[in-house]
Amino acid sequence: MSLADALGILVTSGKGGVGKSLFSIGLAAELARRGPVGLLDLDTRSPNLHYLLGLSGDVEIDAGGRPYTKPAALGGRSVPVMSSGFLAEDGVPITMPGEEIRSAIAGEIVSAHWPADLRWLVLDVDPAPGDSIAAARRWLPRLAAFVVTASDVSSLQDCHRMVNALREEGVATLGMVGNMIGALCPNCGEAIAYGAEEPVRGLAARTGVPYLGHLPWHPVFRERPVWAVQNHGSELFGEMADRVEEWEGKWRAR
Ligand SMILES: Nc1ncnc2c1ncn2[C@@H]1O[C@H](COP(=O)(O)OP(=O)(O)OP(=O)(O)O)[C@@H](O)[C@H]1O
Ligand SMILES: [Mg+2]
Repeated sequence: MSLADALGILVTSGKGGVGKSLFSIGLAAELARRGPVGLLDLDTRSPNLHYLLGLSGDVEIDAGGRPYTKPAALGGRSVPVMSSGFLAEDGVPITMPGEEIRSAIAGEIVSAHWPADLRWLVLDVDPAPGDSIAAARRWLPRLAAFVVTASDVSSLQDCHRMVNALREEGVATLGMVGNMIGALCPNCGEAIAYGAEEPVRGLAARTGVPYLGHLPWHPVFRERPVWAVQNHGSELFGEMADRVEEWEGKWRAR
């Protein structure tokens, strides 16, 4: 198997800060329980997936200039992670034009030392991932996506645009997931009205995308994201991973 045989799973939203990176980690952890998976931050302008994973510092590069991935312990497996954040210095603005971004992504996808048997590559993307989807598609011909949204009007609007953009690109959307819907008081555990599931369900129904569930708002997702997604999201991430395997089954049967 080569990297081009891996299925690319985009985690998109159309809007910043709604949980793409958190959900990418949760999905990768669940998939890791089922088979070999890698995790790639395709956000070349503001890569920060590696911070959520607690991975920082320089990545090793071989004599030919090929970067090595870094391992993250997820789902009981060592998951290889690649990010342009490993190659950029902290705090230095990344101001590459689109074409350079595309070739940087291509370099990371193609030239990094990925394991040969990778079955899935989870792709955490920037809020408006036109360039990154185009770049990913060149190297990973089989791409599908999830869309993450909060329940406020602007998240929903941007998510709606994203669903249509994916449709125009011919990328299958395997499901819509909600984030920061419902909350428990971190002090007393009482349920707090925060966000609502209904608008997300409504958008999913209107756009014909399966609604798969949601995560609540809770500080643990910010403070211990890797632990939190593996201990408080198993049903939702299990549902997402089921959709990936279902879609994969169709591909392999072709
Ligand atoms: N359900 C949640 N409860 C509390 N905090 C959350 C939740 N989901 C995400 N966060 C926190 O909100 C911040 C934004 O989440 P995340 O980085 O996953 O969003 P993103 O969509 O990837 O953002 P960007 O567009 O900047 O890449 C992070 O600090 C994350 O830990
Ligand atoms: Mg992110």
